[in-house]
Amino acid sequence: MSTTELLDLSGRVALVTGAGQGVGRQIAATLAEYGASVIVNDFDLDRAKQVADEISTGNRVAVAAQADVGDFEQVNRMFSDHGLGPVSIVVNNAGNGGAGPAPTRQLPFWEQDPSDWERFFHVNLDGVLNVTRCGIAQMVPNGWGRVITIISDAGRVGETNGMEVYSGAKAGAAGFTRAMARLGGRYGITANCIALGATRTPATESRMQNEEFAKKVLSNYIVRRFGEPSDIANAALFLSSDASSYITGQTIPVNGGYSLAL
Ligand SMILES: NC(=O)c1ccc[n+]([C@@H]2O[C@H](COP(=O)([O-])OP(=O)(O)OC[C@H]3O[C@@H](n4cnc5c(N)ncnc54)[C@H](O)[C@@H]3O)[C@@H](O)[C@H]2O)c1
Repeated sequence: MSTTELLDLSGRVALVTGAGQGVGRQIAATLAEYGASVIVNDFDLDRAKQVADEISTGNRVAVAAQADVGDFEQVNRMFSDHGLGPVSIVVNNAGNGGAGPAPTRQLPFWEQDPSDWERFFHVNLDGVLNVTRCGIAQMVPNGWGRVITIISDAGRVGETNGMEVYSGAKAGAAGFTRAMARLGGRYGITANCIALGATRTPATESRMQNEEFAKKVLSNYIVRRFGEPSDIANAALFLSSDASSYITGQTIPVNGGYSLAL
């Protein structure tokens, strides 16, 4: 099979969480470009609709679906209501700042309360469990599936300054995704993570425009630039396709070499 054929997602149904902006939005657009019918999930329905409308040009298919990934009932309903047929690709992307304010940065972790971090932890970890649970149930009968979980280098190296809980949630999501690789292998399902470094999205744009901040952060990135959503979407396309059928249980760092520079 040619590489073009291997990357062809025609006939596949993909659900991308938190696809109303940023990384998720670009992943949704790229998967649709390569033939998948895409469910654009976000808890902000207007955002999801706007992205689905933008994607649905020519013969590309995209529908908006509102659900808070942290709420199992909402997620379960979304998987039965979207009208595109069984989902075969799930991209767990929702999280980050969109999950609500990060735990109070002014307070050291030992002075925080669970109320400071519960919501943040819940979306970044339980959201992955909820969506994967519903997605895999639709993949198993078809004997083919892809689970892709967007994590962060924070989950690997552990970040401070209010990122302690986020680091734990992302590390948990990675461990869970590896378990899904073991569980899904015999059903033709692969499960992998993409670990992001600093990537330019609406959640991060304003900080990246600060020259002092940019200079300090980029000294840790070998390629000396921030990631773009398209960098992540290209990796997600590969992991969604038959081109990656022998890769499972892995974490692909798409981070400009951050892992090597530390
Ligand atoms: N941007 C970065 O530098 C960076 C770095 C490391 C990891 N990440 C990860 O990449 C992913 C995407 O990040 P981004 O920068 O594009 O984020 P973003 O905040 O720009 O966009 C996230 C989208 O997800 C939606 N969302 C948030 N919580 C949701 C929920 N509970 N249910 C449904 N939708 C929800 C938001 O409404 C928003 O549209 C996140 O998982 C984040 O942790 C990002």
